[in-house]
Order: sequence, then C-alpha cells, then structure tokens
Amino acid sequence: MSPEFSDKTKKKLEEIISRYSRKEAAILPVLHLTQKEFGCISVEEEKLVAELLDIKPIQVREVATFYTMLNQMPVGKYYIQVCSNLSCSLLGAESLIDYLTEKIGIKPGETTQDNKFTLSTVECLGACEMAPCMMINFDYHGNLDKKKIDKILEGLK
Ligand code: FES
Repeated sequence: MSPEFSDKTKKKLEEIISRYSRKEAAILPVLHLTQKEFGCISVEEEKLVAELLDIKPIQVREVATFYTMLNQMPVGKYYIQVCSNLSCSLLGAESLIDYLTEKIGIKPGETTQDNKFTLSTVECLGACEMAPCMMINFDYHGNLDKKKIDKILEGLK
C-alpha cells in the first residue's frame, strides 16, 4: 500500500510549499517533514514527494541521497552518526567507531534488533572544532573519547 500523508501533515506541507514561488524549491523542508511522518525516505516516499512537488522521483532521490540526515531506511530510536572525515579521523574517529561497534554490537550501517540504535559513519558534520564528534539524532557530541561515549550511552534509555 502506498504511503499517504496525514491530514495534519498535508496542511503543514501546503503551508511550506506556499512560501516558495516554485513548488520544487520546497524539497528540503518537504523531505524533512516526510521523514518525520514515515521515518525514512524510501522509494515509496520519493514517489509521494515527487507527486506533491510535480517533479520526477529521480529528482527527489538525488536530493534525498545527498544529505546524510535523510534516511533511505528506517533508523533506530537513537541514530548515531559518527564523523569519519579528516579532522575527526586525525583525532581518533576510527577507534571510536570500533569502540561503538563493540559497545552496541552493530557495525556502521546496521540497526540493533530492538531498534534502539542505528550506527552510521558520515562525512564532516560541520563541527570540526570539537573533533572527534558524532550526532545522536539532532544533538552534537564532541571532543569524544571512550569515557565520554560510555557516559553518553548510559544517558540514552
Ligand atoms: S571532520 Fe568531523 S566534524 Fe568536520
């Protein structure tokens, strides 16, 4: 069955689209709202957004796959994105990714069976000043070391 936006989301989408002179210019806020409603932007959601914005599904995919905050598959309650770019790598990101893999029991790109955690490695999070860093959902955590990771994970219930 194809996904459908709830009435509440439809209303919000209309309001967002009305802010732009061309519907397709609203693609990013529309994708964020779509992800909020369905949990991810899979092929079905791409079609839905394409229809809404009068563009081709491939145009939606081009945008949806460019940004790491948009997920093509459902993620766990806590979506951990660890930066593996230059500044963070120089300050030990690889060993922290290994540590997280060991602690949570999943590799980057996987979700725990209880859907609590999804682990992912991403490009620069734009927070090099606090490298090595990661995001959990929309929160930044920087200057990481194993001890700090332990503390952060303990706080996630
Ligand atoms: S390189 Fe990691 S935040 Fe920029």
